[in-house]
Amino acid sequence: MNSPIVETVTDPAEAAAVAEVAATTFPLACPPHSKPEDIAAHIENLLSPQRFVDYIADPAKQVLVVRDGAGAVLGYALLVYGRPDNDDALAAVESADGGAEALRAGAVAEVSKMYVLPDHHASRNETRPAHALMRACIDAAHDHGAEYIWLGVNELNERAQKYYRKMGFAQIGTKTFDMNGVVEHDHVMGQRA
Ligand SMILES: CC(C)(COP(=O)(O)OP(=O)(O)OC[C@H]1O[C@@H](n2cnc3c(N)ncnc32)[C@H](O)[C@@H]1OP(=O)(O)O)[C@@H](O)C(=O)NCCC(=O)NCCS
Repeated sequence: MNSPIVETVTDPAEAAAVAEVAATTFPLACPPHSKPEDIAAHIENLLSPQRFVDYIADPAKQVLVVRDGAGAVLGYALLVYGRPDNDDALAAVESADGGAEALRAGAVAEVSKMYVLPDHHASRNETRPAHALMRACIDAAHDHGAEYIWLGVNELNERAQKYYRKMGFAQIGTKTFDMNGVVEHDHVMGQRA
């Protein structure tokens, strides 16, 4: 199997392909109690092709995709640069090792989204596209000047938490997440970038 290729998306014409992967994979991150209508609304509001056009154009955001050797999108990530806009995430980063200095320097990045198609999770794809994607995210954040990188993950999403720990993240706090009006509980995880 060919090694996965990771690249930053700069062409808005790619937005539809990324949105398709986003719509397929978002439900995999939702807890069992999530209602299909709330999941659908979240996808429509935040993961539509137009939203990805906006993310690609936003200088404070970076969309990365991981592709197979033939160019098909296997997964994507969204980096968001700047201070966390969630108070609990901000407090968590502030209290983390290296976090306060990074905040003072304006050098913080969030891995806001990290999604890989189920047939290409490491258990089914020995080239481990999700690992290549996260390594590229950390490198991209570092190259962008970030000194600290953080993320939120649903408290019930043990698969993702385990993966994030393998990729060097540790829990630094908790926060809530509003999914179409339903309050979900997240772990905040972080590491120096
Ligand atoms: C999160 C994600 C990118 C991780 O990629 P991955 O290739 O699956 O990651 P890995 O297989 O290396 O790591 C996951 C670990 O969780 C384990 N795991 C799988 N299902 C699990 C479950 N239901 N509960 C607990 N652990 C689980 C895997 O066995 C693996 O551990 P191992 O390396 O000891 O075998 C990918 O699973 C994904 O896209 N998931 C759906 C979307 C999502 O949840 N995104 C994160 C949103 S915050």
